[in-house]
Amino acid sequence: MLRMEEVTKKYRHRGQLVTALDNASFAIEAGEFVAVVGPSGSGKSTLLLMLGGMLSPSSGQVFLEEQSIYDLNSDQRAGLRKRKVGFVFQTFNLIPYLTALENVQVPLYLGGVDPADQVSRATALLTRVGLGDRLHHKPCEMSVGQQQRVALARMLANDPALILADEPTGNLDPETSQQVIGFFEEFNREGKTIVMVTHDPRAAERAKRTLRLADGKITSSKSGRERLHVA
Ligand SMILES: Nc1ncnc2c1ncn2[C@@H]1O[C@H](COP(=O)(O)OP(=O)(O)OP(=O)(O)O)[C@@H](O)[C@H]1O
Ligand SMILES: [Mg+2]
Repeated sequence: MLRMEEVTKKYRHRGQLVTALDNASFAIEAGEFVAVVGPSGSGKSTLLLMLGGMLSPSSGQVFLEEQSIYDLNSDQRAGLRKRKVGFVFQTFNLIPYLTALENVQVPLYLGGVDPADQVSRATALLTRVGLGDRLHHKPCEMSVGQQQRVALARMLANDPALILADEPTGNLDPETSQQVIGFFEEFNREGKTIVMVTHDPRAAERAKRTLRLADGKITSSKSGRERLHVA
């Protein structure tokens, strides 16, 4: 479903080139749940942004369902992203002056869903993540874990086949982290493909495969079974 072929990303910073990702090639099949791990600065976020069509590589190609996404123009790429990809970030990026319900309605509104359906679908999504009694709360009136669950509901609004998450539990306490990872497992069982960057070993071990990065290079890609074998 997702593939990188010889992808390199260099950033120019104060006249110097920084290689954030160095000649990465790998494939992720539909239905996989992959954790991306590695030290700070190893290129994890860069890799995720490029997978999601948000950052173009310096060289190489990224394929989403056999479509080379950076061969599309930016409008086509935005359309593809809207139809197929859901993002979750460490800082939830909720709109502060909108309620939980309104935050989840935003992608539905942008997707042209009519207003009555927006409300019923957003309500159903929030209920699903356990927030049926917090529909009219603003982000600042909710706990951090609840805010992340609003972000999960919003991410599900366009029913993405692919979920990309960058440190989704980075700001959460251990218990809330486990709950959020539980939701990811649930989405994965329902058939969604998930790529999750994480520093949290307990989150990483719940994924079925680990892609390890060091200094912009993929140093290993192991499935759960292989990991057990090594341990
Ligand atoms: N916009 C940018 N301009 C210049 N250099 C950048 C930019 N973004 C990232 N880098 C550099 O690219 C490298 C990889 O960064 P990236 O954010 O992908 O790392 P990361 O693995 O996500 O780190 P962390 O775990 O701290 O989030 C780093 O050396 C970083 O300094
Ligand atoms: Mg990062």
